[in-house]
Amino acid sequence: MAYAAPGSRAKSAPLMGRDTEPTIFEMSVEGRRAYQLRTTDIEVKPMGAYLPVEHLATQPVKLASVSERDLVAHFTRLSHRQFAVDLGMYPLGSCTMKYNPKFCDTVANEPGLAKVHPGTPAHLTQGWLEIFVDLENRLCEITGMAAATLQPAAGAAGELTGLLLMRAYHEARGDARRRVIIPDSAHGTNPASVTLGGYEVTTIPSDERGLVDVEALKGALGPDVAGIMLTNPNTVGLFEEEIVEIAGLVHEVGGLLYYDGANLNAILGVVRPGDMGFDIVHMNLHKTFATPHGGGGPGAGPVAVAAHLAEYLPGPRAQRAADGSFEWVTPHSSIGRVHGWHGNALVLARALAYIEVHGGEGLTAVAHHAVLNANWLKQRVAAILPAAYDRPCMHEAVLTATSWKKANDVRALDVAKRLMEEGFHAPTVYFPLIVDEALMFEPTETESLQSLESLAQALEIIHAEAQSDPQSLHDAPRTTPVRRVDEARAARQLMATEDAAGR
Ligand SMILES: Cc1ncc(COP(=O)(O)O)c(C=O)c1O
Repeated sequence: MAYAAPGSRAKSAPLMGRDTEPTIFEMSVEGRRAYQLRTTDIEVKPMGAYLPVEHLATQPVKLASVSERDLVAHFTRLSHRQFAVDLGMYPLGSCTMKYNPKFCDTVANEPGLAKVHPGTPAHLTQGWLEIFVDLENRLCEITGMAAATLQPAAGAAGELTGLLLMRAYHEARGDARRRVIIPDSAHGTNPASVTLGGYEVTTIPSDERGLVDVEALKGALGPDVAGIMLTNPNTVGLFEEEIVEIAGLVHEVGGLLYYDGANLNAILGVVRPGDMGFDIVHMNLHKTFATPHGGGGPGAGPVAVAAHLAEYLPGPRAQRAADGSFEWVTPHSSIGRVHGWHGNALVLARALAYIEVHGGEGLTAVAHHAVLNANWLKQRVAAILPAAYDRPCMHEAVLTATSWKKANDVRALDVAKRLMEEGFHAPTVYFPLIVDEALMFEPTETESLQSLESLAQALEIIHAEAQSDPQSLHDAPRTTPVRRVDEARAARQLMATEDAAGR
């Protein structure tokens, strides 16, 4: 494997054959098979007996012909060209790429959960409905809210759901409103969701502390403001200290407060969005609890609301009936479905398993460790990579490489690429946009002191190189399967079709 284990930081050894790994089609040899079932005398009907003939393929499907051994080796080799949180530290700020306990996967793999079709009627899926009810109750307890929908498939889907709820609430009062306020440090999905929800974005600046500029907020508020979207801790990893005052100001003009819960792991069991004054909260279950994410994996973005918004929630929601059984109920002013079925159910099951196995004290410890780890790292590397805002951070530390750029023309991107050679996933760079040469480290609560120290030492080595041999940083990474790529090309020259060879 090309990556060093945390703590060893051994230089990556070239992986044999990794630059020449053929595609599965190049490995294909006519007639080879993974395995072939023995012929029996059981009658096999032609496919036309099961499917309408007009829907059957007329040409054989183009598949590679390889032996099982070659097939397994090929995909195993490819998997070794990738970095994963199971291999090492993944301090990708804002994304919370923490290690997820395998126990939660075991629960989600239970055939009684994994093999149930979502269309199975309620009387045959009482256990699943109980899981949904229990999870909804737990999430409401954690966030200080009254009711929740589990349907949204990820954070951004939760944001859109929340904005539709905001709209439904205002429209029901005959007061549609026009604008939603967002701080300039916000995650890109926030303004996108506002626009999709049919509102206009009003951006307010952060002040010199990296927090919401309360005076600017006052100036932006008015009777046409539907609400404000905030994440707390915010995207520079700082706690919005004036949150209660902010909530009061927004409520005074009749607006609602939306909590982007992407950073909820920083405050679990310590403070609740509901107690801060928020009306709508989305949670990224895949960050806060127990689902491995990234690479387009499944997420879940339940949305919890205060009592005055519960009647608008998407339906159906699982609920306990008077006789103690579980049933599906749609709230009477529901905005409708936001998912074809009940949400990404196995992600929901993992989250409940994680919550139950930790318990209240365990969840609070998660938040404490997340905050401790980020602050430890921030202090440990302060002499070479100062924090963008000189104050205690929450679960992530936004550092700046401005001085590296000025001294040796070494940029945040160079540091991130070089770090990959040392066996660490890169931090988030150039986000939030308001910080020059930003490197956003989120070690997460699952990293040990040894792995944090190992990361700090790697940064020290890179810092020394920035002065002695800056070109080596511009050339990095040199030992990974893919070297520096053109960051913009994939977006500008999207190839979503088959290649010239028809594969
Ligand atoms: C602050 C913040 N909000 C929203 C999102 C969107 O969440 P998702 O990726 O689950 O759609 C993210 C994702 O990284 C985030 O960091």
